[in-house]
Amino acid sequence: MSLMKIEDMSFAYSAGGRKILEHVNAEFEEGKIYALVGRSGAGKTTLLSLLAALTHPTEGSIYVNDEDIFKGDTYKYRCKDVGIVFQNYNLLPKMNAVENVVLSMDIAGIDLPDKKQRAKDLLISLGIAEYDLDRPVLQLSGGQQQRVAMARAISYEPPIILADEPTGNLDDSTEKDIMAIFEDMAHRAGKCVIIVTHSKQIANMADVKIPIDELNVHIKDNSLAESHPVN
Ligand SMILES: Nc1ncnc2c1ncn2[C@@H]1O[C@H](COP(=O)(O)OP(=O)(O)O)[C@@H](O)[C@H]1O
Ligand SMILES: [Mg+2]
Repeated sequence: MSLMKIEDMSFAYSAGGRKILEHVNAEFEEGKIYALVGRSGAGKTTLLSLLAALTHPTEGSIYVNDEDIFKGDTYKYRCKDVGIVFQNYNLLPKMNAVENVVLSMDIAGIDLPDKKQRAKDLLISLGIAEYDLDRPVLQLSGGQQQRVAMARAISYEPPIILADEPTGNLDDSTEKDIMAIFEDMAHRAGKCVIIVTHSKQIANMADVKIPIDELNVHIKDNSLAESHPVN
């Protein structure tokens, strides 16, 4: 059974404006990594924002465990059910790594006496050195900030992880580490991981590769999909 289902969803940024997504249908299961690929401007980030309930579809909807996420409390959904790794990390720059992670657990309503220890353990398991745990995240490297962003997204154990080009600015070896973390999340922890990526390595590692133009009925009908390479 699918965990998340997109049903006949269309989206335009303004009423009556150009449809970025048109009649999209897709299903996502637990324990799998999905790579969402396609040319720049095709609507990948837009689709991720919809899956994160940061924006509402113009038509159609998204179901998680058969419930329409837009009919429920979308704030609660974002805080508890999805972990989001944004392209620009979206960390709180003056806070340190541990504080960033603890804050997300607080917002998700995680009620544990040892949240700080849990945050530390998680960050260390994702490769943050002990002496970097209490430095403002702004002083950390891109790869380290990416790891903090991932720690934050998984700290409250959401069933769905969404990541927008998570290795866009990273070197090959950091990319491999980040990939291993995603594999662990999906294949060991059973999360549904959806990654927007330009990386061939990540696309090849994914269990399912989804070229966004193939989801988009409108674009397919106009035979535009074939003229755009997926990477
Ligand atoms: N806030 C916005 N308002 C209006 N148009 C937007 C906005 N964000 C993105 N777009 C447009 O939507 C299309 C898809 O953008 P995006 O989802 O960012 O593509 P991708 O992530 O695949 O590169 C692009 O044509 C982009 O210009
Ligand atoms: Mg994008």
